[in-house]
Amino acid sequence: MAAGRREPRTARWDRDRTQRLRLRSGTLPPGQRRHRQVPQSARYAPLVADVLLRECAGSGTVVDIGCGDGALAAVLPHPPPVRVIGVDASATMPATHPGTAVRADARALPLASGVASAAAAVTVLDHMDEPTAAIREAHRVLKPGGLFLATAISRGDSPELAHVWRPVATSFDAEEAPALVASVFGSIGAHRWDAPLIDLPSSGAVRDYLIGRQVPPERAAAAACRVPTPLTLTKRGVLISGRKKRGTG
Ligand SMILES: C[S@@+](CC[C@H](N)C(=O)[O-])C[C@H]1O[C@@H](n2cnc3c(N)ncnc32)[C@H](O)[C@@H]1O
Repeated sequence: MAAGRREPRTARWDRDRTQRLRLRSGTLPPGQRRHRQVPQSARYAPLVADVLLRECAGSGTVVDIGCGDGALAAVLPHPPPVRVIGVDASATMPATHPGTAVRADARALPLASGVASAAAAVTVLDHMDEPTAAIREAHRVLKPGGLFLATAISRGDSPELAHVWRPVATSFDAEEAPALVASVFGSIGAHRWDAPLIDLPSSGAVRDYLIGRQVPPERAAAAACRVPTPLTLTKRGVLISGRKKRGTG
């Protein structure tokens, strides 16, 4: 990549995917293996799946916006009681999805209007410069009464790591995300969490956690040496829900 040019986020995800899959499958070289090395985003999929299954009464079509390699589909029961269609702008992610997935931009979903019972964006909208365009597009493909779910991470996430790392501010942080969803869906629900949720038993686990948050490996390793372990991390974020009003197109 030419110096000074910003790498597209989807390309970055393709590049990082190898490392994330190694973390997920435990195939890191001996000495680097640690438990609970699940990528950051994978932790939110079970929460979203629970709400989907409850609210969609186990039927209909769910659009998984920015599906990646299928974290949401992977935590649904098998066979899934809902039809999941994954959409991701990445060149490689849709091919590794366990179910149906297509390559497309979240701002132009390849779906007719009013066909989906639900649309979910799990740690996706913070990767977009204009998340509202994707939220509007999700609204378009939903049936009246259809459910929209999106997760957002707080800028105050992982405060125990503040001396070595802070999350980069995004276009869809938990502080502003509910208002952005409300600007399209009207009234929304917001389920917030602020709790000690992740145990990092060693500096290797801290390093892997930081790599999962897009910190380059060398910087992550250097930062991890400055963090006392074992460490329990406080996670802060929000799950936002909205429904397409009945009587809208
Ligand atoms: C943090 S990953 C989350 C993947 C998945 N939702 C999960 O929970 O594991 C963000 C995903 O959003 C995708 N993405 C980023 N911008 C996108 C866009 N404009 N349209 C569709 N997908 C996009 C990336 O390719 C990547 O797979």
